[in-house]
Amino acid sequence: MDVVMIGAGYVGLTTGACLAELGHRVTCVDNDALKVARLRRAEIPIYEPGLSELISKHVESGRLSFSDEPALAASKADAVFIAVGTPSGPDGDIELSYVKNAATSLAPLLKPEAVVVIKSTVVAGTAQMVRRLVHEARGRSDVYVASNPEFLREGSAIRDFLEADRIVAGADDARAAKVLEQLYAPLREKGIPYIATNTTNAEMIKYAANAFLALKIGFINEVADLCEAAGGDVAAVADGIGLDRRIGRAFLNPGPGFGGSCFPKDTRAFAAIGRRFGQPQAIVETLIDRNEVRKSALAKRILSELGGKGRRVAILGTAFKANTDDVRDSAALTIMPLLLKAGAKVTAHDPKARHETERHVSGAAWADCPYEAARDADVVVILTEWDEYAGMDLDRLAKSMSGRVVIDCRNLFEPEAVAARGLKYVSI
Ligand code: UGA
Repeated sequence: MDVVMIGAGYVGLTTGACLAELGHRVTCVDNDALKVARLRRAEIPIYEPGLSELISKHVESGRLSFSDEPALAASKADAVFIAVGTPSGPDGDIELSYVKNAATSLAPLLKPEAVVVIKSTVVAGTAQMVRRLVHEARGRSDVYVASNPEFLREGSAIRDFLEADRIVAGADDARAAKVLEQLYAPLREKGIPYIATNTTNAEMIKYAANAFLALKIGFINEVADLCEAAGGDVAAVADGIGLDRRIGRAFLNPGPGFGGSCFPKDTRAFAAIGRRFGQPQAIVETLIDRNEVRKSALAKRILSELGGKGRRVAILGTAFKANTDDVRDSAALTIMPLLLKAGAKVTAHDPKARHETERHVSGAAWADCPYEAARDADVVVILTEWDEYAGMDLDRLAKSMSGRVVIDCRNLFEPEAVAARGLKYVSI
């Protein structure tokens, strides 16, 4: 099929490259001409394992191209995906203007029977609203609108697409349903569960899934704190409850609080939808609050271990999780400014996210490797679960430091191994 992807951001690029891998001819459109020029040279603006290779492969195969001019590609497309940003408003509700603009500006260009597929995460009812706008802008009702939310994790997005747990295909009419079926035929043939539903359900599924996953993390973080107070090892508890198939072990790893471009934003939007429809989502409201409190409580804990102004702390990991350079809502963005404000000397390291972090946090020094960051540090804090940190030589780390405290918010080491180097190991 001929596909146009509007928005060459993280979701658009990954989905576009994966649809090309499924055999479709995809044009990724972005209004940033410089970005398009770079993409044509296979220069990818984000760090996502395997993406650059997949893009190069399909630029060469001729199935993937980039454009800053949607008109020609859109006029031939069977499906036009909208994968543009949906920024948060002050009350957590999302801003739909990019989605609406993309849909209405394309509307007159589409061929009859084309399907506009909303990929961006949007609130229930958006596909129906976009359908009305598209029909109005066209003056005819001969194109269709579908909802096809994504469930990609940064760092494993390609596998999450090609080996998805499920595909959610929201359509309110036969034509949209058929186009989605054809688009995903190769994955359906592989046996990937395919949920054919209406657009409103598809939109709800996306938010409910992210809210539920975030709840699992928020819950295990609270259990971890209780274990610490009452005596107990949260990893053993997570294993013990996770084997119950109704619960499942995934997303029960405690940490410094969830971050990223999705969970914080989507839980806020979910709570805002609840308020808007008069059905407050009290559990999710509490989760959002507890997750923020967790990050600042960690900063306080670090300061108490530091024990005074002017002392040195090394922050290992500023990305919101490993294998990404994304720092949006990462614990480091809350914790580093609080430490700096309290007079600590902060040296940070991250294998990929330095540049992004420096756009948000100033006043920290940066090191090229974790040992250099730890040099003369009173306290070393691990915030991101990079393999590079899990594989650190603890003797070398202990020698670099002047103090003795390692605060590991990702539980990367056996406590005995750290203690054997004469270090105090504060894990979760
Ligand atoms: C998340 C969802 O996992 C995807 O299914 C969804 O498609 C995506 O949001 C989205 O809506 O676009 P992502 O934000 O890339 O994906 O990252 P996750 O791997 O889910 O991690 C989110 C945060 O939770 C990170 O800060 C991570 O460190 C934290 N986390 C995750 C934990 O603290 N413990 C866990 O057990 C798992």
